[in-house]
Amino acid sequence: MKGNFVYCNPTKIYFGDKAQENLSQALSSVGDKVLLVYGNGSIKRNGVYDDVKRALNDAHKKVVELCGVMPNPTLEKLEEGRAVAKENNIDFILAVGGGSVIDYAKSVGVSAWYEGDVWQNFWVNQNEPEEDAKIIPVGAVLTMSGTGSEMNGGTVITNTASKMKLTKVFGSRVMPKFAILNPRYTFSLPKYQMVAGIYDTFSHIMEQYFSDMDGDSTSDYISEGLMRSVIASSRVAMNDPENYEARSNLMWASSLALNTLIGRGKKQDWMPHMIGKAISAHTDATHGMTLSAIAYAYYRHVMPFGLSRFARFARVVWGIPAEGKTEQQLAEEGIEALKDWINEIGAASDILSLGVTNEMIPAIADSTIINEGGFKKLSKAEVIEILEASTK
Ligand code: NZQ
Ligand code: ZN
Repeated sequence: MKGNFVYCNPTKIYFGDKAQENLSQALSSVGDKVLLVYGNGSIKRNGVYDDVKRALNDAHKKVVELCGVMPNPTLEKLEEGRAVAKENNIDFILAVGGGSVIDYAKSVGVSAWYEGDVWQNFWVNQNEPEEDAKIIPVGAVLTMSGTGSEMNGGTVITNTASKMKLTKVFGSRVMPKFAILNPRYTFSLPKYQMVAGIYDTFSHIMEQYFSDMDGDSTSDYISEGLMRSVIASSRVAMNDPENYEARSNLMWASSLALNTLIGRGKKQDWMPHMIGKAISAHTDATHGMTLSAIAYAYYRHVMPFGLSRFARFARVVWGIPAEGKTEQQLAEEGIEALKDWINEIGAASDILSLGVTNEMIPAIADSTIINEGGFKKLSKAEVIEILEASTK
């Protein structure tokens, strides 16, 4: 590894099928007034809400509830959360849900006491909070694995007026203080969301793996192991969604994929995420599916600029024999294997099925932020080419 880096992940993880038993103790060191944040009711149907309320009760907290956090949380909803947090002088935010709910809780926590235009300051200008800023700390109970939000500083907010879905990755002050990870909590996920989470995890790993070939990097070996684990467990979970071991592997792999570990010492790509977010901003499509829908076209497009890495991906991740093949052939077979797996697990393989129309493509390309960390810096025309190729 040649890159220099700082690595700090302060989130304490409680993992396992009894992880929730640690919640009241984890809450004992936080302030009295807790804002309980959740989505549109799945936690009431699967019993997670009852577990959480019991723990809050045991910890003698005063609880204010804020529900209705939607997938792809909006700036309007964030404004509501800021107002509730301030009015109630909240000490701690407990997020119970998937990436949307946890992202939202972190966003409320960092912006509740900021005076000014929070969208402009944090998500457009990408500022960190001032040293002495009041930040409401967050804890998480995860019910859907995929985003890694439970163990990172990422916050993704959609501005519906400007059709921009932007990410701000905050530093360790905003990362969850703890996260409860019980794989059984994910059993009630609809298959569509399970698959979206699986592909999201895989994409996070690929987008750190397909960049900056500085020779021999420990981060890349970790990525390969994680990708192999996700592929193996996805196959078990597709046939047997309540297979505890497979769901626990998927849950832990998703946290490790985006808790900053595997990107250390390297550049990172993130172009599929930039395009995927622009698709969601225009259609409200499910995040993981936006990534699978463009994957084949995107990776075919950048493959010539990182051929040897794609050949290694084929060999090590998909187990494709290399004998007698050129690097080009091997690289192509790896991308075909990725495409076959996307179809096998039932992830989206085209953008029309997500609500994109041909007429929307130029505007989606316009909302796409261009990154420079991948093998090829894309022009807007190339983004359009990739989107068009993803309609077939
Ligand atoms: O509204 P509820 O009731 O919570 O239902 C949710 C929602 O409808 C449901 N669900 C979650 N757990 C469930 C369940 N249904 C039944 N049983 C359960 N156990 O699933 C639906 C989707 O939930 P959501 O939280 O939106 O999914 P996900 O975890 O994929 O989060 C997506 C958001 O995270 C952002 C995405 O852009 C998107 O806004 N991301 C956050 C990242 C980060 N913080 O680092 C990185 C990612 O790349 C991503 O961009
Ligand atoms: Zn993602």
